[in-house]
Amino acid sequence: MDKLRIRGGLRLQGSVQVGGAKNAALKMLAAALLTRDELVLANVPLLADIATMSRLLAAMGVSVARERDTVTVHADGLHSTEASYDLVKTMRASIVVLGPLLARAGSARVSLPGGCAIGARPVDQHLKGLQALGAQIRIEQGYIVADLGGNRRLRGARIVTDLVTVTGTENLMMAATLADGETVIENAAREPEVADLAACLNRMGARIRGAGTDRITIEGVDRLHGAQYRVMPDRIESGSFLIAAAITQGEVRLEGAAPDTLDAVLDKLREAGATIESGQDWIWLRMGGRPRAVNLRTAPYPAFPTDMQAQFMALGCVADGVGTIVETIFENRFMHVLELQRLGADIGIDGNTAVVRGVARLSGARVMATDLRASASLVIAGLVADGETWVDRIYHLDRGYERMEQRLMQLGARIERVS
Ligand code: UD1
Repeated sequence: MDKLRIRGGLRLQGSVQVGGAKNAALKMLAAALLTRDELVLANVPLLADIATMSRLLAAMGVSVARERDTVTVHADGLHSTEASYDLVKTMRASIVVLGPLLARAGSARVSLPGGCAIGARPVDQHLKGLQALGAQIRIEQGYIVADLGGNRRLRGARIVTDLVTVTGTENLMMAATLADGETVIENAAREPEVADLAACLNRMGARIRGAGTDRITIEGVDRLHGAQYRVMPDRIESGSFLIAAAITQGEVRLEGAAPDTLDAVLDKLREAGATIESGQDWIWLRMGGRPRAVNLRTAPYPAFPTDMQAQFMALGCVADGVGTIVETIFENRFMHVLELQRLGADIGIDGNTAVVRGVARLSGARVMATDLRASASLVIAGLVADGETWVDRIYHLDRGYERMEQRLMQLGARIERVS
């Protein structure tokens, strides 16, 4: 199993290219199920999660071909509508094939995802919404078994979700593109990836309005067609590189980024003392001294993203002062705390609140990645820890960051992958 060895203490400096958004690309791959034509996606990152989704689609008879950053998906040969436990358990986002399969093929058998390291993550809102669209759903042997109950198509409906769910919104939005009549999703997730998926679907002939707000309206159409679409930049990857630069008191320029999707993160970095400038597709950051402690609270977009919480905590570990971090999205998303403590961090936890007392120095140790963003936080902390930090189980990191260590190395970090 691969590990990362980091020798801390160097200041990051230089520029780095941001990749396409994992959480947008994954859903667009699933969206290809909605048409018999080819969907050509550019700026698709080379990540383990993208490979998992590709395998899932291939098992259904969908052809998926990659050339550099472009992936061509063709679902004309769809012969199965099953997503097996083996694949779904490794990536919960697999659930987003459910809506498209039902809408296009009229039936689906998708494994229930089960628990994951950061919380229970049920899919009740996905199922409730699909039922409102006319789906008949039962749970059998750990699988969600769904069909149209004898009808030819799903039918438009008004859906109010009990809570804000990103993949839930996306699943319902995709299903509704091929339903009879109009669907309105209230309390929809406003994440930029939802809006990007809607733009891709509209390019395929869907009629979606309001994506990016909490009320999305979808006018069902008879069929969707092929399209070409360029995936938006990854805002979480962007934020992670900015924090990596900030913690080393360095200076970095991100190319190919989308600063307008990162307001809450940039605000917090400024509060921590960073100087930031940005243009249409670039962000420049410099941290002149020791970061200041900040308080933050995760919440649905446009508030501070839960997917940046662990990385920001790493920054707080070496900040001047005491910062409070409240996690409101996932109940168990502090798994990185015990590992950061192994590096000498001073963090107390009370329920969903972490109190981070900045220390002058961290010291290198062997630590273990527990989930995707937790692994990024350990790498970031390792960049400033004295001596050597070994991060184990970095397959988590490879799920969401393309060649993270090579890109950090380009910026001057001493980091290497050891098999
Ligand atoms: C997506 C992102 C993930 C991010 C998260 C929150 C992808 C592939 N993943 O995950 O990186 O951290 O949004 O921004 O896009 N919930 C229910 N019932 C449901 C659905 C969700 O109770 O049917 C709860 C979840 O347990 C969680 C909260 O709602 O507490 C938000 O989850 P959700 O937005 O659905 O997260 P994902 O879409 O899985």
